[in-house]
Amino acid sequence: MKQRASAFLAIPLVCLLFQITFSSSQLDYKFYDSTCPNLAKIVRNGVLSAIVNETRIAASLLRLHFHDCFVDGCEGSVLLDDSSNFTGEKNAFPNRNSARGFEVIDAIKENVEKACPSTVSCTDILTLAARDAVFLTGGPFWQVALGRRDGLTANETAANTDLPSPFEPLENITAKFVSKGLDLKDMVVLSGGHTIGFAQCSTFKPRLFNFDGAGNPDPILDESLLASLRIVCPNQDDSDTNLVALDAATSSKFDNSYFRSLVNNSGILQSDQDLMGDNQTAALVLSYSKFPFLFSKDFGKSMAKMSCIGVLTGQEGEIRKNCRVVN
Ligand code: HEM
Ligand SMILES: *[C@@H]1O[C@H](CO)[C@@H](O)[C@H](O)[C@H]1NC(C)=O
Ligand SMILES: *[C@@H]1O[C@H](CO)[C@@H](O)[C@H](O)[C@H]1NC(C)=O
Ligand SMILES: *[C@@H]1O[C@H](CO)[C@@H](O)[C@H](O)[C@H]1NC(C)=O
Ligand SMILES: *[C@@H]1O[C@H](CO)[C@@H](O)[C@H](O)[C@H]1NC(C)=O
Ligand SMILES: *[C@@H]1O[C@H](CO)[C@@H](O)[C@H](O)[C@H]1NC(C)=O
Ligand SMILES: *[C@@H]1O[C@H](CO)[C@@H](O)[C@H](O)[C@H]1NC(C)=O
Repeated sequence: MKQRASAFLAIPLVCLLFQITFSSSQLDYKFYDSTCPNLAKIVRNGVLSAIVNETRIAASLLRLHFHDCFVDGCEGSVLLDDSSNFTGEKNAFPNRNSARGFEVIDAIKENVEKACPSTVSCTDILTLAARDAVFLTGGPFWQVALGRRDGLTANETAANTDLPSPFEPLENITAKFVSKGLDLKDMVVLSGGHTIGFAQCSTFKPRLFNFDGAGNPDPILDESLLASLRIVCPNQDDSDTNLVALDAATSSKFDNSYFRSLVNNSGILQSDQDLMGDNQTAALVLSYSKFPFLFSKDFGKSMAKMSCIGVLTGQEGEIRKNCRVVN
């Protein structure tokens, strides 16, 4: 397994930059070394068996971690079911009939609880699971700093407003990343997460049939891709939940072909293809399309950064016993 130099620092610098002014406790690569020494193995095995059962679950776990971190920080709020005290985020527009992988986190949590009761947070499990999902599908490996704690509430409104939509302009999506302490480069490289997994036809159908309000398709979309997408996603409502690979070439392999597709006008989501419509982001897309190693390296860095957004540490929050409910 590849090890990075940063593995030898107990406290991750990237999280320090996020946390230094907000929190007295820091995340730590060795956080559970004495309290749950088999944690990494338990999570790895749980993700591996889920992938053996269904390849797509790797993508779903990666996205779930993103949807956790972008809504009130990485504190496991996306995992909470609705309760009498709050409405959960599972029915927010970007998650409803879309976010998946909850059962996998439950199963891993159950095994972790058996080995080390009330010790490991659900959000740390999700963070590790997303890392393993990427690694096990052929992507980079990076060290995950641990010690996040689980939040006590969820916020459906925040899920609706803070998660990016595939229909909003690049500037708005950029603003959402910047508001989380991430930058333009993080946004472009993390969009590379779309090298695995699927999108429902409803998330890009206007590009196929009515991009301009006058019944024309998106003029940028590659002609032959347009024709094949129209077969899977015909212009009728009952095709809305049909699935299309976000990276048509290698949808279960974590590689840089997502970026190569954008270069030849074969991005699926409008927000994906828009990365080529701006000089600054296009330059990054081009370099990731040419240099797979650069993509791997930068993806790991930006994931580590994303996993520090708004974390709870020390005495904040709690260690949930069941990821779906507050203790
Ligand atoms: C840049 C703004 C982003 C937008 C607008 C966006 C939008 C979407 C949409 C619409 C889908 C399809 C959902 C469905 O049809 O059910 C999707 C899937 C996915 N997204 Fe994103 N996304 C963005 C960023 C990210 C990031 C940062 C990651 C992770 C690093 C990510 C990882 C994924 C994955 C892996 C899938 C496939 C999930 C599956 O197959 O279950 N996305 N995204
Ligand atoms: C295996 O994957 C299917 C979806 O393909 C899912 O419905 C089922 O719950 C999964 N089983 C396990 C044990 O993960
Ligand atoms: C709601 O919050 C109160 C006070 O924090 C707590 O005692 C109660 O168990 C919570 N109910 C649920 C369903 O989470
Ligand atoms: C939920 O999020 C919205 C939008 O970010 C915010 O205005 C609201 O104050 C939040 N609600 C709670 C209870 O934190
Ligand atoms: C983009 O952001 C601006 C400013 O916040 C907002 O007025 C506009 O409605 C947003 N556009 C879309 C399509 O969400
Ligand atoms: C675009 O690039 C992708 C990924 O390299 C490839 O699979 C696809 O065939 C290309 N399409 C065209 C029209 O060149
Ligand atoms: C972006 O590139 C176009 C040519 O592709 C050029 O005309 C334009 O000046 C560039 N804009 C910026 C801000 O660099």
